[in-house]
Amino acid sequence: MRHQGGRTAAAKERGLGVGAQTPASTLLKICMGLRASQALFVAVKLGIADLLAHGAMTSDELATATGTHAPSLRRLMRALVALGVFTEIENDRFSLAPSGELLRSGSPGSQRSAVLFLVGAVRWGCWSDLLGSVRSGEAAADRVLGMPLFDYYACHQEESLIHDEAMGAFSTAFATALLEVYDLSRYRCAVDVGGGSGQFLAEILRAHPQLAGVLYDLPHVVARATPVLTAAGVNDRCTVEAGSFFETVPTGGDLYLLKNITHDWDDTRAEAILSKCRKVMSVHATLLVLDRLLPDRAECGRNVDAYLIDLEMLTLAPSGRERTRREMEMLFSHAGFALTNVLATASSLCIFEGRPA
Ligand SMILES: C[S@@+](CC[C@H](N)C(=O)[O-])C[C@H]1O[C@@H](n2cnc3c(N)ncnc32)[C@H](O)[C@@H]1O
Repeated sequence: MRHQGGRTAAAKERGLGVGAQTPASTLLKICMGLRASQALFVAVKLGIADLLAHGAMTSDELATATGTHAPSLRRLMRALVALGVFTEIENDRFSLAPSGELLRSGSPGSQRSAVLFLVGAVRWGCWSDLLGSVRSGEAAADRVLGMPLFDYYACHQEESLIHDEAMGAFSTAFATALLEVYDLSRYRCAVDVGGGSGQFLAEILRAHPQLAGVLYDLPHVVARATPVLTAAGVNDRCTVEAGSFFETVPTGGDLYLLKNITHDWDDTRAEAILSKCRKVMSVHATLLVLDRLLPDRAECGRNVDAYLIDLEMLTLAPSGRERTRREMEMLFSHAGFALTNVLATASSLCIFEGRPA
């Protein structure tokens, strides 16, 4: 104890509070990220939060319910208690902490599918070959999955469903963030290009009864849209079209939404998608690209998530990338749009507004 106290005093003398960051601890904290995220993933995969929703349980009881090795599961639970996901209410008896509540399936604001998506096999595998992507500039997905990401989803329904559910889980917050800062009341028909299974468009339509919607995505994705649109009560105002945005985009909208689309692709392909939109848009229509905005220059502690997602795009898609304002402006301009506004939202996404040039 005396030794520890001495170290604490020494740390204080150097102006480092207990637990304060040192240059070495900054590096170790970065390294711990993968350990924490895998522990979280395993708990979600085992459905621990759904079991604890009925009341506190011991590690033996949890192990029986999940078919796992009790002493090892206890170690997992302890780690997640330390990380703030569960609580050890008495020795070896666990309950849900507020973050753990959000891992329950079907609960309001559930992040369960987000964890499965962000840490699951597809992303995990692609991140494991980030080095290959940095060396070659090519998507790790092609090497790790054996094919481009969206082709992989087309033939792996379970992973594709996890992707869509996670996008849906993020969509409610993103829709609220968009509606807070952007007035959609003058629009009549919104086309959501690459709109997934419709969660985002459903939120927009729900908030704006004057709007009709067109949901557009690949066939295996829009095949899951009807229950989403029906549950939101907007099915009668929304049509669903299947196809590739590299070939065509639905006509007739006065508002075209592209959320998390341009960041999946390099400039050539992103420009091709925007050009397809431009081709079917009247001069009075509006384009809203919803993506992250990278500043011109990186700074310590700022925009960390955006830079990490930018790297994720490098591993996943053919030169997928987040963009600076200037880069987005160039993209718009090459596709025949003027970038008329860039609006921050309460979410991680910005609104890039474009009008036919
Ligand atoms: C990152 S997700 C974004 C989904 C949705 N916009 C959202 O933010 O929740 C990218 C979407 O693009 C779709 N997509 C990929 N390639 C496509 C193509 N060639 N034509 C149409 N949609 C495509 C995917 O199926 C997926 O739904």
